[in-house]
Amino acid sequence: MIRINALTKKYGELAALSNLELTINAGDVFGFIGPNGAGKTTTMRILATLLTPTSGRAFIDGHDVLTHGRTVRRLVGYMPDFMGVYDDLKVFEYLEFFAAAFGIEPRKRKGIVEGVLELTDLQSKKAAPVDSLSRGMQQRLGLARVLIHDPKVLILDEPASGLDPRARIEIRGLLRELKKMGKTIMISSHILSELEEISDHVGIIEHGQLVFSGTLAQLRQRAGQQSKVRVRVVQDHDKAVELLSALPQIADVHREGEIISVTFHPGQDADGIVARTLVRADIDLIALEPEQLKLDDAFLQLTRGLVH
Ligand SMILES: Nc1ncnc2c1ncn2[C@@H]1O[C@H](COP(=O)(O)OP(=O)(O)OP(=O)(O)O)[C@@H](O)[C@H]1O
Ligand SMILES: [Mg+2]
Repeated sequence: MIRINALTKKYGELAALSNLELTINAGDVFGFIGPNGAGKTTTMRILATLLTPTSGRAFIDGHDVLTHGRTVRRLVGYMPDFMGVYDDLKVFEYLEFFAAAFGIEPRKRKGIVEGVLELTDLQSKKAAPVDSLSRGMQQRLGLARVLIHDPKVLILDEPASGLDPRARIEIRGLLRELKKMGKTIMISSHILSELEEISDHVGIIEHGQLVFSGTLAQLRQRAGQQSKVRVRVVQDHDKAVELLSALPQIADVHREGEIISVTFHPGQDADGIVARTLVRADIDLIALEPEQLKLDDAFLQLTRGLVH
């Protein structure tokens, strides 16, 4: 549904995107993750036809964003990272304004506005001024707004940023609803765990390049290739470090007080060999526990030290 080929965007000397390749399947919720300045907003603005790339192409449902802007804009609902402020506008006026801007016939506008208010649970705020809404409600209103023309594709730039946990859960619930309606959703964040529950696929971008694209299971597998164990021994810590460092399966050993952290080479997670080595050397082992890699660690592992 979304396809990006060799997309490059330069701001003067700075390449915000360099030859970015990305595919998002129809009906997927795609988590677009990257640290600040990685190029998420730049990518999304190009897809939303608001920004022209320096080179490369991008397609929404087969339509080129550069040459078929009108068609693409009808297909896409884009929610920017910062919404403009509309003083004195009431919620329903705000939505009716956008319905008019999308060219929806006057007699149909009211029904459509009611529909999106219901979906985003904002009916009770219909007559409230937009600027009186909490941040969470404003984000829901932002979603209501991009749903007005019933787009197939939603491009949401950090919709959960600055929200409290409750508002985040509400947004997540709403996104699930939208997925059920068959929408393809691209959603950005700089926090992987924030999108963990709702994303079918994730893409990790850094310095304008995709460093990973796949399912969360694939991401875990990829990051989990280097598994770690934490070892605790009674005494002979230095000897234990020395013995373990000499094992070919082990990439790194370091000691922090009582705890010895052991990192295996990718694909090697032979806990057994650690225990055996220590016991054979008569070192009393008190504990040996695997360290579960969390998704955010996976993210750090994938983005750390990338040469660019
Ligand atoms: N209009 C602009 N002029 C010059 N440089 C820009 C402009 N917009 C973005 N950049 C630069 O391009 C790079 C990518 O920016 P972009 O906003 O796409 O990143 P992002 O991933 O959305 O970051 P954030 O998490 O902070 O929102 C950054 O280095 C940014 O400083
Ligand atoms: Mg951004």
